[in-house]
Amino acid sequence: MTDQTITSVSREHRLIRPSAEFKAQANLGSDATYKRLYAESVNSPEEFWGRQAKEHLVWRKPFKKVLRWSPPHAEWFLGGKLNVSENCLDRHLGTARENKAALIFEGEPGDVRTITYKQLHFHVCRLAHIFENMGIGAGDRVAIYMPMIPEAVMAMLACARVGAIHTVVFGGFSPEALKDRINDCQAKLVITADGGWRRGKIVELKANVDRALEGAPSVQTVMVVRRCGNEITMVDGRDVWWKEAWLGAPNTHEAKGFDAEHPLFILYTSGSTGKPKGVLHTSAGYLLGCKLSSQYVFDLKENDRYFCSADIGWVTGHSYVVYGLLSNGATIFIYEGAPNHPEPDRFWQMIDRHGLTILYTAPTAIRAFMRWGDNYVLRHRLDSLRLLGSVGEPINPEAWMWYHRMIGKKRCPIVDTWWQTETGAIMIAPLPGLTPLKPGSATRPFFGVVAKVVDERGREVPRNTGGKLVITKPWPSMLRTLWGDDERYKKAYWSEIKDVYFTGDGARQDEDGYFWIVGRIDDVLNVSGHRIGTAEVESALVSHPAVAEAAAVGRPDEFKGQALVVFVCLKAGHTATDPLKEELRSHVAKEIGSLARPDVIRFAAALPKTRSGKIMRRILKEIATGGIVKGDTTTLEDFSVVASLQAEE
Ligand code: PRX
Repeated sequence: MTDQTITSVSREHRLIRPSAEFKAQANLGSDATYKRLYAESVNSPEEFWGRQAKEHLVWRKPFKKVLRWSPPHAEWFLGGKLNVSENCLDRHLGTARENKAALIFEGEPGDVRTITYKQLHFHVCRLAHIFENMGIGAGDRVAIYMPMIPEAVMAMLACARVGAIHTVVFGGFSPEALKDRINDCQAKLVITADGGWRRGKIVELKANVDRALEGAPSVQTVMVVRRCGNEITMVDGRDVWWKEAWLGAPNTHEAKGFDAEHPLFILYTSGSTGKPKGVLHTSAGYLLGCKLSSQYVFDLKENDRYFCSADIGWVTGHSYVVYGLLSNGATIFIYEGAPNHPEPDRFWQMIDRHGLTILYTAPTAIRAFMRWGDNYVLRHRLDSLRLLGSVGEPINPEAWMWYHRMIGKKRCPIVDTWWQTETGAIMIAPLPGLTPLKPGSATRPFFGVVAKVVDERGREVPRNTGGKLVITKPWPSMLRTLWGDDERYKKAYWSEIKDVYFTGDGARQDEDGYFWIVGRIDDVLNVSGHRIGTAEVESALVSHPAVAEAAAVGRPDEFKGQALVVFVCLKAGHTATDPLKEELRSHVAKEIGSLARPDVIRFAAALPKTRSGKIMRRILKEIATGGIVKGDTTTLEDFSVVASLQAEE
């Protein structure tokens, strides 16, 4: 990365002011309130967060101290005890919300289920008993590998109820990737389904679990939801049907209070080196971050019907499908399948059918909708929508304007929310009705977030200059460590600039203080909003017998944000052919999951390296983008390597 790439992002000057109507009903009232609360949250964080924690969470035992910060380790709400599932469910019982829909589900084949708070509580209580009978309790790890069905939400909440730590693995990951995650956290229980529907086909989840478990001895039990009715093998003594386990379990469950810092979940995400990182989130701080941001960033109202299109396999599904929304007593809508099944207007159909009021989705989806054509949108009313959100990657101003005009009918504010698996909750985002919007900017920091754009040495750069995005103060929903690898936690996030959290993103701040996120500046790619580590792709490639060496880089892509380009050197005796290219693409998909299938494979006689043997990715990026190699090449060991790669182009 060079500063040049960061500052060269297009300058966008449109300013879209909130409508008087939206403003009049906004939860936070006025921009002056935001400014006052923000100032308090960063100047007196302990008073601010202490007050919010008392107001927004239900405690079993009050906390004694708000924050203990011993960089880079933070503990929040010390001495306090609470139960996260109770905060998402029990607190709504006995109130007007009891019979309100907590969850509306639509399966890809069109089946619909509505589950009230009371019913969801009942299901989670039963499941909590089942877990306890299986010997799953506080601190045990449970892997969840499921389609987007209500049972997935129940499984997460039941883990929280008994203090077990869930690790949700996205259903698109391969058996190999699932095995690695299970082994890393030594999960005892796996919850899955026979299959899930995707574009009219069944994703064979249970068969994938069976394959993963051939190399994952820690797992004692597999619980299986019947979803698609496809044929599966049940292993005697290990596998149980969800429905059968269900029978006889009591439907009330006395939840225990756990320490504020009790681990809630591990979520694996890609880093710039090595295997995926097990990001660890704990209970009270995480929940508070999700609850408060959901309430204000989505300007939640009692009658909202909120649709976030993220899968629970990603952090967005954790924070802004499950924890942030249910703790607010909102109605969430979840959808199992693909946005273009059976036709590319599935989302718009569902919005009209269920009267959905908020849509939170990713720029890559918005760009796909644009490509599929306006006609699919124009067939539907979309008049229930009142707010739109974007997350996962920078949204280009064209896509922003299309979303605003076509979907939001210029009536709905758009909240472009910047955050990460590690931050747990939204960090930079507008507050709808208060913040004037600039298409393509995530705008201003949320409460308690001290974000800065700095240079290599950690000094803040002038406005409108590119640099590294860092967070200089701890915040309640921050990750606490990486599971089983605190050294990596320190090195990956807190050593770039001592005691400051490095996000891995590049950004600039404009003259109004608005943040413009450029994207990853480390060796992490963002392909269609999915985080992919170049190191993971490279190690998948070299595990193929024909590959001697590989380097993965990103290339800007109109639809995917970034496309994955890999350079491969073959071992002697192997010939570079098109069928081999195809085989290597499938090999990566098999090793990691199809989300990591390379877009382009290029065979190379050798890779450009420094004299100390480090691959020069900057050069490969330039070659992949079709550009001429610029910048300094004096550290190259052998320039002819670059010349021959360019000649091939
Ligand atoms: O590069 C940023 C990008 O997504 C990365 C985090 O990915 P992940 O941990 O998978 O979480 C995605 C959902 C929170 C960030 O480092 N990113 C996320 N949101 C935005 C974004 N880039 C620009 N604008 C955003 N709104």
